[in-house]
Amino acid sequence: MDYKKDFPMLNKGIIYFDNSATTLKPKSVIEEVSNYYSNYSANAHRGDYNISQIVDDKLNDVREKTRKFINAEKKEEIVFTSGATESLNVVIKGFLKNYLNSKDEILTTKAEHASLILPLFDVVGKTGSVIKYIPLNDDLTVSLENVKKMITNKTKVIVISHVTNVIGDIRPVKEICKYAHKLGILVIVDGAQSVPHERVDVRSLDVDFLTFSAHKMLGPTGVGVLYGKEKYLKKVKPLIEGGGMNASFDSLGDVEYKELPEKLEAGTQNLAGIFGFGKAIDYINEVGIENIHDKEIMLKRYMVEKMSKLKNITIYNKDIQNGIVTFNVEGVFAQDVAAYLNKHNICVRVGNHCAKILSEVLGVKNTCRASLYFYNTKEEIDKLIEKLDNDNILYESL
Ligand code: ALA
Repeated sequence: MDYKKDFPMLNKGIIYFDNSATTLKPKSVIEEVSNYYSNYSANAHRGDYNISQIVDDKLNDVREKTRKFINAEKKEEIVFTSGATESLNVVIKGFLKNYLNSKDEILTTKAEHASLILPLFDVVGKTGSVIKYIPLNDDLTVSLENVKKMITNKTKVIVISHVTNVIGDIRPVKEICKYAHKLGILVIVDGAQSVPHERVDVRSLDVDFLTFSAHKMLGPTGVGVLYGKEKYLKKVKPLIEGGGMNASFDSLGDVEYKELPEKLEAGTQNLAGIFGFGKAIDYINEVGIENIHDKEIMLKRYMVEKMSKLKNITIYNKDIQNGIVTFNVEGVFAQDVAAYLNKHNICVRVGNHCAKILSEVLGVKNTCRASLYFYNTKEEIDKLIEKLDNDNILYESL
């Protein structure tokens, strides 16, 4: 299928391989954002007038659509945020900070993104709890066995990505939750790199919290989701207070919050973005999340097969089953590879990809990352390979 008619950015003469950073947007999403500003640009006021009622209804619809997409039990368990980063900050600082004390241990890994690790550092600093890193296997994956080895009677919570943004490995979250829950350990999962690419069913996985971003799944920037089981979400303290989230307050400072989800949605939401996100979910549902996953695996295999034939290329995640290919060209600084590819209108991300402590296990600080989505093609991969099959990359990057 040719997606060029749906995605304006696919007609700009570039090859876009940075889908883990953000995906391109289909026309239906772009038009929905514009539709809000052109036709019913009101705030959510609980329907004081007609266009405000439209906004309320739409907000409700997208919340329900999101609930269905991840199979949450109730739509009150879906909180809209500005992105996975905010969602992680809210759950870690608004919940874990009160949940943990100085005797407690948190398990995570060295492959995590800054948005997960930095709030954890903050909580550790304030509660006196301790972070312990689950050892990674030689192929940088996480196994249940390694998680089990790290659990002690002080372990209170496991905080990990479902899929990592550099290696792209899929963690055995369902097995981890099953094991952890038997011991009363909570599991908080960042789904920013999984929800856009594979079926994520929060009830089947049994995660306690899940975070993700709209813009990594065809939606607008500035919208994210915090899912939490109601019993835990209720205990999250709002990090931001203001209009829309309080039921009452008086001059003595007595404040009563609203119920979920409003309690965690202070101020005016990114309404246009949320409505665009609804269209993004529709688009993904039409293509089919399983088809998306299969196509990415097919494209990744194709890229790895072709890249493996080139001399001087190291691939760090050959056998990982999803759409991320992380590599380096021997003797050429990753940034120079990106600059060279950019000259040929090919977009890849380079650097540490915000996973700054991964280098302690990966052995290199910087890598090039080509991350795929279902609208990429074998022809685009052929062009990347053609450009990488060149001994003069360093010279030509200048
Ligand atoms: N976390 C995003 C990435 O991996 C920004 O590119």
